[in-house]
Order: sequence, then C-alpha cells, then structure tokens
Amino acid sequence: MYQIRRNRILRQSPAIRAMVAETILRPADFIAPLFVTEGYGVKEEISSMPGYYRRSIDFTVQEVRELWKLGIKSVLLFVKCNDELKDNKGTEALNANGLMQRSIKAIKDALPDVVVMTDVALDPFSTYGHDGIVDGNEIVNDPTVEVLAKMSVSHAQAGADIVAPSDMMDGRIIAIRQALEENGFTKTGIMAYSAKYASCFYGPFRDALDSAPGFGDKKTYQMDYANRREAIKETLMDVEEGADIVMVKPAMAYLDIIREVRDSVDVPVSAYHVSGEYSMIKAAAKMGWLDENKAIIESLTSIKRAGADLIATYYAKDAAILLAQ
Ligand code: PBG
Repeated sequence: MYQIRRNRILRQSPAIRAMVAETILRPADFIAPLFVTEGYGVKEEISSMPGYYRRSIDFTVQEVRELWKLGIKSVLLFVKCNDELKDNKGTEALNANGLMQRSIKAIKDALPDVVVMTDVALDPFSTYGHDGIVDGNEIVNDPTVEVLAKMSVSHAQAGADIVAPSDMMDGRIIAIRQALEENGFTKTGIMAYSAKYASCFYGPFRDALDSAPGFGDKKTYQMDYANRREAIKETLMDVEEGADIVMVKPAMAYLDIIREVRDSVDVPVSAYHVSGEYSMIKAAAKMGWLDENKAIIESLTSIKRAGADLIATYYAKDAAILLAQ
C-alpha cells in the first residue's frame, strides 16, 4: 500500500493557511515601552531609534490613549532623568514627585484601565549608568536591593500595577515582594527580568535614556549569552521568590531560551524585543533591503511561537495597526 502525504494541501490558499495557523498575534500580547522626559509638549525622536520618541507626560498620556484604542493593554515606563538629579544612591528614583511617579499618576488618572508597568533599576538615575550602587569598581548587590525595594513601593504608591525589576541583582524579587506586602500593596504585580543577558542589542536604548555605563560593562550582573541552564535557574528562583511574570531579554537571538523557560515555569513568560532589534529592522528597511511591515510581523510571530505569552516591543503600535488591517 502506497501512502501519499501532500503537505502542500494545507498551504494552498490564504483561507486554508488562516485556518491552520498555529500562532496568532493579538494586540493584547504587546507591552509598549515608553520613554518619558521632562517638559510639556515635548516629542523628541531618538536618533538611534528612528520613528521612536521620548515624550513629556502630556504627550505620553495621548500616546497611551492611542495604544489603548488599538487594543494594547499595557505600557512599560522608562524615564530620562536630568543629569543634575543623578547620584550613586538612586535618590531621585525614590522621589514621590519624580518624573516616573508623576508619569504613573497621570496615566492612571486619564486611563485607569491601562496596565502600567514600571522599570525598576538605578541606571537612568545613576551618575555611573549602572543598574546598582557603585563602590570602587563593584556594583554592590545588597545595598542596591534595598533601594530597588523602596523604589518599587514608591511606584506602587504612585499607582503602578506591575513593577518590572530589570537590574539582575540577586534576591531582589523576594525583597520587593516583602516590601510591597509590608506596605499593604497586595495587588501589585512583579514582572521579573529573570534571564536578562549582557547584550550589545541594548545600545540604542542607552542613547534614549542617556544611561550607558560610565565604566566597564554589565557582565557582573547581566547573564553571559553563552549560557542556557543558568537562564532556567534564574527564572525558577524568581518564580519561587514571588515573580508573577518572568522575562527573557533580548528576544530574537534567544528564542531557544524563551522556549525552554516557557516549558519550565507555570507563570506567563514575556520576551523583550529590545531596542537594537528594533533599530536593525528600521535600518534595513530604510536602506530598502527589507519590507518593514513583513519583518515586524514575522519577528513578533517567531517570538510568540517560541513561547512568549507577552512581548515588550517598540513595534507594538505598528504591529497592532497591521493586525487590524
Ligand atoms: C536597564 C534596562 C536596559 C533595558 C531595559 N532596562 C538597558 C540595560 O540593561 O543596559 C534595555 C531595553 C532595550 O534595549 O530596549 N535596566
């Protein structure tokens, strides 16, 4: 008996392909990172991220309203701290009236249903551009964790729904969870950057926030990209410590890690399609070498197919518009 399997039958028309598609992107999958800067009526393009902007709070609120209309449920806030407010202790990060805290309030006042996530790390506030407190040549762990816990409480006080520690210090998730509990924030979530690699793909982001490390690199806290098992160890520990969502970052060079993390934990997994990944597509599209819209959807679909339940991406808005067409 001769059996013929013709796999092309299920690829022969757009209708059949739509019926059997295994991975479907939707706007609610996306987390839109937003860069906030001081001032009013400010919208500045980031030179290494064409088409992406730093906005003052008023314009940020407008943007969040547009994202919400497109079906995007969550934003991830980063602030550009003025140089004169930077120090080595994260003082400004704890300011109840700081740019981050004012941004959270403004968004939640205007759009209470939007899920506001906030970056928790010291680099935008650090004279050294490091995610933690610097002592000599070292980024010291435990004193940094103390500040991160206070920073998380401050964001929760301002109305943040989910805090997102991106620093990679040891023990910060349990410290943040305990601090939130002690202060009565029993409904504030934690999205842990659990497997965050020391990556060259963060370059454009550091331009956006003027937060490049002043000395050395971030390899004593962010992970070595040679490692896979370590990502699972980090992620399982963060879940144990109380993370509600775990993250793998960057995304496209780490699809294997996303898959393995997805198969190892029972919480939602997010992936961060980072600034360099955005800028690579932009640059190639600008040169006429790639079809940008197709590259966006193919990239984000691959990240979801790898196992990401949520994707933080600078292409969130473009993708939501494309998906609506
Ligand atoms: C800093 C932070 C970085 C990013 C998010 N939070 C940069 C870094 O670790 O140096 C990168 C995001 C991106 O490149 O899009 N805590």
